[in-house]
Amino acid sequence: MRKIALLGSTGSIGTSTLDVVTAHPDRLEVAALAAGRNRDLLLAQCERFRPRLVSIAGPGDAQWLAGQLSYRPDILHGMDGLRACALEAGADTVLAAVVGAAGLASAEAALRAGLRVCVANKESLVVGGALMRQALEEGGGELLPVDSEHAALHQLLAGHAPGDVREVRITASGGPFRDWAPGAVQAATIEQALNHPTWKMGPKITIDSATLMNKGLEVIEAAFLFGLGADRISVTIHPQSQVHAMVGFHDGTYQLQVCANDMKLPIQYALLYPDRLPGPVRPYDWDAARTWTFEPPDLAKFPCLALAYQALAAGGTAPAILNAANEEAVAAFLDGRIGFWTIQACCGAILSAIPAEQAHTLDQVMDTDRRSRLAARTWIAHHTRQGNP
Ligand SMILES: NC(=O)c1ccc[n+]([C@@H]2O[C@H](COP(=O)([O-])OP(=O)(O)OC[C@H]3O[C@@H](n4cnc5c(N)ncnc54)[C@H](OP(=O)(O)O)[C@@H]3O)[C@@H](O)[C@H]2O)c1
Repeated sequence: MRKIALLGSTGSIGTSTLDVVTAHPDRLEVAALAAGRNRDLLLAQCERFRPRLVSIAGPGDAQWLAGQLSYRPDILHGMDGLRACALEAGADTVLAAVVGAAGLASAEAALRAGLRVCVANKESLVVGGALMRQALEEGGGELLPVDSEHAALHQLLAGHAPGDVREVRITASGGPFRDWAPGAVQAATIEQALNHPTWKMGPKITIDSATLMNKGLEVIEAAFLFGLGADRISVTIHPQSQVHAMVGFHDGTYQLQVCANDMKLPIQYALLYPDRLPGPVRPYDWDAARTWTFEPPDLAKFPCLALAYQALAAGGTAPAILNAANEEAVAAFLDGRIGFWTIQACCGAILSAIPAEQAHTLDQVMDTDRRSRLAARTWIAHHTRQGNP
């Protein structure tokens, strides 16, 4: 029986994870649940799965939960609560599904403790990829990707030495603006950007998919997960989201991974690895007529993807700087403070303004994250809709 600490249980990945757990009662059980602000959903999840440890972001919500629950788990809050869920609930597996750099410290601590860490939280690998790898090596745990493209690569690369592989390609749906004219993309509204054509996800990753920053973060994530340089990781636009990744070998042949675009598949893959069992998603229907298309990304229309390659090439803390600027810019866009096109401008400006350096500790990385966010907030304050219509 795998005992799971689910960090980010109330989000899109978190609720899909609980569907996978429900489908495998003899293999998976919940030891801890952690969430941010959605106390009503966390309460319902606790009553259903009865974890022994629960954490929520705010102390007031933790107190409220204690008063509502029909049983007596340990209830904690904040970053310490996230970390305790990972380390102190007797879990052997952590599913890291908090959104943003806030998920880094708990995922790193779980790797250091030798646990299986299933990472949906790509920002933790973008911000602290080198530290995560070091924690993995020193702790002796397992790092399994949950992002669909990286789960696909994990499957495709199994049994191949890095030298066998010429390149890997991850696919991108292209988001809602793939075939829009550049001018229209620049003026996109919040509602238009949140209207993703193929995936239903949380708001931050949905905006990242519209700017293609999501794919850029995934390129950086792939570099850290699989030890590949930027020159060996490419992106192909595939609007149907059925092929998730491809691996190209030196002889010119490719292997592709195909499955339905349902996150329960990569979640189950990571939780039950290496076992393959029937789960909540039906097998792919090859008898249904369908068309797949592939095209290269348009880097002029989606400059965030180019910025991610630039940050990966710069190395050190550059990906953390880019990630911090992007988190702040996306939050400002979702609040209506800046327009869609200003997201990429903010990311580019902060990446150029803050020099990247080597970071050897979590504190150093988190300090870079703080400084970059502050710089991004100041930049955004000067570029709000009022100041820059
Ligand atoms: N959704 C997808 O299909 C998908 C696919 C691949 C990768 N991912 C990655 O998976 C991660 C989660 O994505 P999502 O779509 O599930 O996002 P989401 O729906 O916005 O959920 C985010 C989760 O994180 C929690 N959270 C946020 N800040 C927190 C904090 N400070 N402390 C504790 N919990 C906190 C939220 O809690 P509350 O809701 O209670 O505030 C929620 O449970 C992201 O890194 C994303 O890039 C997602």
